[in-house]
Amino acid sequence: MEHSYVDSRPIAGQKPGTSGLRKKTKVFMQAHYLENYVQAIFDAIGGAEGKTLVVGGDGRYFNDRAIQVILRMMAANGAARAVVGQNGILSTPAASNLIRQRGTDGGLILSASHNPGGEDEDFGLKYNTPNGGPAPEAVTDRIFVASQAMVRYRIAETQDIDLSAIGETTLGDMAVEIVDPVVDYAALMERLFDMDAIRGWIADGHSIRFDAMHAVTGPYARAILEGRLGAPEGTVVNGTPSPDFGGGHPDPNPTWAKTLYDEMMGRDAPDFGAASDGDGDRNMILGRGVYVSPSDSLAVLAANATQAPGYARGLAGVARSMPTSAAVDRVAEALGMAAYETPTGWKFFGNLLDAGKVTLCGEESFGTGSDHLREKDGLWAVLLWLNILAATGKSVAELMADHWRTYGRNYYSRHDYEAVETEAANGLMAGLRGKLDSLVGSTARELVVTSADEFAYDDPVDGSRAEGQGIRIGFEGGGRAVFRLSGTGTEGATLRVYLERVETDPARLDQDPQEALAPVIAAADAVAGIRELTGRVAPDVVT
Ligand code: G6P
Ligand code: ZN
Repeated sequence: MEHSYVDSRPIAGQKPGTSGLRKKTKVFMQAHYLENYVQAIFDAIGGAEGKTLVVGGDGRYFNDRAIQVILRMMAANGAARAVVGQNGILSTPAASNLIRQRGTDGGLILSASHNPGGEDEDFGLKYNTPNGGPAPEAVTDRIFVASQAMVRYRIAETQDIDLSAIGETTLGDMAVEIVDPVVDYAALMERLFDMDAIRGWIADGHSIRFDAMHAVTGPYARAILEGRLGAPEGTVVNGTPSPDFGGGHPDPNPTWAKTLYDEMMGRDAPDFGAASDGDGDRNMILGRGVYVSPSDSLAVLAANATQAPGYARGLAGVARSMPTSAAVDRVAEALGMAAYETPTGWKFFGNLLDAGKVTLCGEESFGTGSDHLREKDGLWAVLLWLNILAATGKSVAELMADHWRTYGRNYYSRHDYEAVETEAANGLMAGLRGKLDSLVGSTARELVVTSADEFAYDDPVDGSRAEGQGIRIGFEGGGRAVFRLSGTGTEGATLRVYLERVETDPARLDQDPQEALAPVIAAADAVAGIRELTGRVAPDVVT
């Protein structure tokens, strides 16, 4: 087989963000773009020689083409083996599982997560390390540096290989093992959860609706919910993955999964509703007439996890990203567990999980997971919820009400301003940063500012420091607003404003979050000048 070197030159902007490199698909399709980035990954991890890597993606447009390129480059770079999902498909959690289960040297995951897919939409690629988790910043920094020095890459000149047949094949000297994307993942779920209890709960007539959003979890949810757990056919909707996700945003939140949301708020709603995103790591949880905010979901799971066999021995600790509400901290305090606060991005949980400091972790951005993997895991969250519902016999609404009565309620909402002009967004953040000290003691609308800082994180395991991770403003009465720019978008800037206020008065646990948060929302706008500086009068997405 010919192993060619192809001359290239550095391409600007190949800097991995919150979760790998994400760009418009057409950018990835430009000559040398994907190849440069893949070679930069190999160079940053000491070469691919002799290595085994897991390769798979969420099936979005260009997934199939990109995988062929990656495999040819692995072969040319001397990799020993590729473990590939059939037809190039692996959900992100399933890929993380395979990396760990096989003890590989990591993996390449092709996805732009919840971003739309298609020739005119988004594509992404990330490298996960041998622990199964997204590469930490030290590694992504090396990838970027390698991309900036790229002068040539290696690629084998071969035909495409057939990824449809499960089994072993070869590409030059490299072994290629094509695996069923679902089997090992489903087996892991069976080890963690009381499947009999969930099966019984369903057999008793409880109903579920799972919206796969035309994305990768369709086959997984069908196999587990409808197959192994006996939920009726049709429980999983939008269950056939499509390269453009049916033209939608495969993002499980009340805006983009509105059909499911509306069904769950309706009169004939099922007992439990859930959705997952493009690559299967996010989740949204609903009950009949109730929407469970991701921060609350994390807290409820932490409080009740011991109902599931995989967590019966208790939790070592919990972690949440800084903008996530402190609801889980209240549970940790009551149960005597450690609670950690990390920057946004799943990669920051990796060290805590590896060191055994935490068992459960989660983010406000619809991500929850545990030490069973090193990615967040949408279906895992769904199954843990179902296990808890089956074990307690409570409805989602009853569980939430009990939870708030016991721990108090952290009213919470995120307001997103999307595709804001980059300069305006940067200006807003710089303006806040510049006046942090003078804010303390001042009054914003009706609330006095009691604290103002920019979050930095010192990793307790490896001592690394991450700075500039979001501006936090605390208000009297325990309210909080956090300002951050998204690290996952591909167009302009997305300003995220995270709003929170804790309530412990038993008579006031049932308010609409937007009303309960109104004073904090007004104060946040006054402090940051959102309307003035962005020209926006209302957020595009409210979670
Ligand atoms: C991805 C990451 C998460 C992160 C989320 C939001 O899903 O895996 O860890 O919380 O993006 O990131 P953003 O930078 O857009 O707020
Ligand atoms: Zn995702």
